[in-house]
Amino acid sequence: MVETLLRNNLAWAERKRAQDPEFFSRLAAQQTPRYLWIGCADSRVPANEIIGLDPGEVFVHRNIANLCPPADSNFLSVLQFATEQLKVRDVLVTGHYGCGGVRAAVAGERLGLIDHWLQPIRDVYDEHVCDLKAIADEVAREDRLCELNVLAQVRAVAQNPFVHEAWRRGQELEVHGLIYSVRDGILNHLDVSVSGFDDLKKLFPDRPSALIGASV
Ligand code: CO
Repeated sequence: MVETLLRNNLAWAERKRAQDPEFFSRLAAQQTPRYLWIGCADSRVPANEIIGLDPGEVFVHRNIANLCPPADSNFLSVLQFATEQLKVRDVLVTGHYGCGGVRAAVAGERLGLIDHWLQPIRDVYDEHVCDLKAIADEVAREDRLCELNVLAQVRAVAQNPFVHEAWRRGQELEVHGLIYSVRDGILNHLDVSVSGFDDLKKLFPDRPSALIGASV
């Protein structure tokens, strides 16, 4: 019931004020989050809670299957605002194992609008189909596709003109790929970080278009 939520909220706000009387007045003045979180809308993957951050510390964008489509105005608005205005230092592209969106993308059922939204995951699947088919265990195969999707989205963010503009301005901005497990609550780094055009070159050794416009 909504009444319960409002009661929860009052208790939470009182707890916060008790711990730090200036907490809300400080936040009301401005937000200066260091991180941009791009994650799945899945209710089991709440950004702040997982990484132990308070309100004001992470700017959050969530959608089904944590995608960063280069023509999605919602994602682009978030990315531009985060890089140009908030000047976040780290972009955390965070996928999760057991992602229903990733599963649905390759399950073959028709669900409607979401089938269009999930197309980028089918592209990732096609690109890695041999490696994926070599994984016999179904859960392990799906987990691998979740990881590959994160890596693809990291590449999408690293290729984004807003990110390039930030680097050209000399702004510190690093894009990371992370994956969360809903099975044990653990977040892992996928060992991919892109902090400038040199990293971008390494990430795209055979895709010259990725560096068009880059001042390397
Ligand atoms: Co998901």
